[in-house]
Amino acid sequence: MSKAGKNTLRGSITVPGDKSISHRAVMLGSISDGVTRADNFLMSEDCLSTVACFRDMGVGIDITDKDVVIHGVGLNGLLKPSKDLYTGNSGTTTRIISGILAGQDFDTVLNGDESIQKRPMKRVMEPLSMMGAEITSIRNNGCTPLAIKGHQLNGMTYKMKIASAQVKSAILLAGLYAKGDTVIIEDVPSRNHTELMLKGFGADIETDGQRTVLRPGKPLKGMELTVPGDISSAAFFIGAALITEGSDITIRNVGINPTRDGIIRAFLSMGADITLSNEKIQAGERSADIRVRYSKLSGTVIEGDIIPALIDEIPLIAVAATQAEGETVIRNAAELRVKESDRIELVSGGLKKMGASITPTEDGFVIQGPSKLHGSEIRTQKDHRIAMSFSVAGLISDGPVVLDDTDCVNISYPEFYADLEKLKV
Ligand code: S3P
Repeated sequence: MSKAGKNTLRGSITVPGDKSISHRAVMLGSISDGVTRADNFLMSEDCLSTVACFRDMGVGIDITDKDVVIHGVGLNGLLKPSKDLYTGNSGTTTRIISGILAGQDFDTVLNGDESIQKRPMKRVMEPLSMMGAEITSIRNNGCTPLAIKGHQLNGMTYKMKIASAQVKSAILLAGLYAKGDTVIIEDVPSRNHTELMLKGFGADIETDGQRTVLRPGKPLKGMELTVPGDISSAAFFIGAALITEGSDITIRNVGINPTRDGIIRAFLSMGADITLSNEKIQAGERSADIRVRYSKLSGTVIEGDIIPALIDEIPLIAVAATQAEGETVIRNAAELRVKESDRIELVSGGLKKMGASITPTEDGFVIQGPSKLHGSEIRTQKDHRIAMSFSVAGLISDGPVVLDDTDCVNISYPEFYADLEKLKV
């Protein structure tokens, strides 16, 4: 093992449960018959927003230290909430739940925080309206607050316009309430947790290549599931270990669903020393232990079909790319501009301030490495992934990185700073 340097990371750790899977466990558990127990559920602000919405529609949800028990009310058992549903900062909750709400026999209003009120919702309003949904943006700007009138929906065949799992999931969940089959065609695959979980809950759903068919009519049945560790949270330690000299860490039980493992593939193509062991499959979701050692990285091109499989990890990959020899180009990632913040602007602005050579483009970045990074004051716009990515950059900067907000890590990874400390030698 090489010598420990400044902020060398060593040892092993588990990261909290996957955010995407935790949201879906609450949603599907709520509209199933019987009890669903989700072990290793992610207790973060975003997932608790989903819990709050379903509690407001009459679902009993018990939370203990690690698991969540959902007392499902069946497909048609949700109750009209007595107030507007509030989704906080969670785009996943807002978009996916609108598919369920569109098919109810009651009306709802869906709203979230300041950031959610700026995020595009037309992407779900349009396909859902093709199924007969009636959803209006109250301020007529394509964003929340949304007024959703419950309607009888019809199935449809829909070719995805953007590679978005949130949009795809909203359509599939609306399909549970529709007359006739719902067929989705995806040119570029997005994460498939909804399809896998629907199957686990007993829905009649099949994916064959680019085509997913959901046939409504089968009730969902509650189940026990274990949520694998979130690769999007593990990403920060993967990136941190790769760029801090002497590091050698193992992250246990991380979800490596092939629609989410783009970060591993991208780092391997940059020469990273990453190995997987103890692979398992639980309820269709693959997981493994990931060992990462400090590596001399080289630049690469990240584009095309891999983008949805690493979209949330791009800010962190950009930080690591500042330490890679040569040029890294990231393109086809315009979605970054409409995440919790404009991540192209915040990543390029922050890294440039720290001394990196990074040029933002319409849909990504061009980064020349390696660069020495300096401490700086960094603007996060309360975006959790920006805060954690720049905290990783701060491990190798020659002066402190000062973030204007760190509480935002509670959105997806409340224990982030404590876990990072545990790995420091
Ligand atoms: C998510 C899908 C992705 C991702 C988000 C979580 C999900 O968004 O960026 O953090 O759980 O379905 P899009 O569906 O907008 O690509």
